[in-house]
Amino acid sequence: MRVRVLGTAAGGGVPQWNCACPGCSGARAHPGWRRRHASLAVQAAEGRWYLVNATPDLGEQVEDCPELHPGPEPRRTPLAGVILTDAELDHTLGIARLREVDGIEIVATAPVRHALLTGLHLGEVLTPYARLDWRPLDPGDRPLAEDSPLAVGAVPVSAKRPRYAAGLDAPDDDAPDEDAPDDDAPDEDAWVVALRLTDRTSGRSLLYAPALAAWPDAFQRAAESADHVIVDGTFWSDDEPLTSGFGSRTATAMGHLPIDGPGGTARRLAALEARTLYTHLNNTNPLNDPAAPQHTVLWELGVEVAADGMVIDL
Ligand code: MLT
Ligand code: MN
Ligand code: ZN
Repeated sequence: MRVRVLGTAAGGGVPQWNCACPGCSGARAHPGWRRRHASLAVQAAEGRWYLVNATPDLGEQVEDCPELHPGPEPRRTPLAGVILTDAELDHTLGIARLREVDGIEIVATAPVRHALLTGLHLGEVLTPYARLDWRPLDPGDRPLAEDSPLAVGAVPVSAKRPRYAAGLDAPDDDAPDEDAPDDDAPDEDAWVVALRLTDRTSGRSLLYAPALAAWPDAFQRAAESADHVIVDGTFWSDDEPLTSGFGSRTATAMGHLPIDGPGGTARRLAALEARTLYTHLNNTNPLNDPAAPQHTVLWELGVEVAADGMVIDL
């Protein structure tokens, strides 16, 4: 089973359109520094692929990934659907770019579906263009199709809601909802999940967590049993949003555990047997500069930074 890394940047991308920080200016001067919004493409079967998160860069990401190109019939696409880790705008705005299809599967937890339907009104807005086929995402590892070697399971990470969904009522499990599948709704912790992608043939798995506000025990257990672990590398240090001058809260307060420091994720990753990588880099992250000394720190810990276009075969 093949996984392609389609992007590795946090919301805004690198460079971000309205930003002249060292990372964004560096990316304008050196195209090799550029990073698209964090996303994966994962193969479910021959000629059948899913995106993990739908970013504002989706159209360009499809063009850059040969496996996602349409054909041989003029309107035949290998893209069957989108699997969502959360309802953040950088991970969901791309769904609107898929409106040229007849129908598309959206695999999401109950809170994420609720936010997209009642916060973004995605059902009302997109249904006149394309059918959204909602499928549940929960902790059980489920095959995406009977004949598919790919199984997908969610590991709840945190109850952090997108800002636009702060005031939404909690999803009501008992309320009749035409768009909701008949299924048990996951709890509030399923606002943000990590995805476990398992190749049922090889038994190998990849754990993908682009937004880590916390490191719950269940996530640690999932990481210990995965072969590849790709996690939130938004900020190098906890005070980076403050010292860069762009924020008034720490990384942790913004819902992103930092890489470095006592509560950081680097040492946890270094202790795993899996191949470990960072994604979702914010443009303030010093790792955007390939010559930054922070790369040596990670190298010594045996932790990598994912690159746009990277291929991982499970
Ligand atoms: C996040 O990762 O915290 C969000 O995507 C922030 C945002 O882009 O608004
Ligand atoms: Mn984000
Ligand atoms: Zn910037």
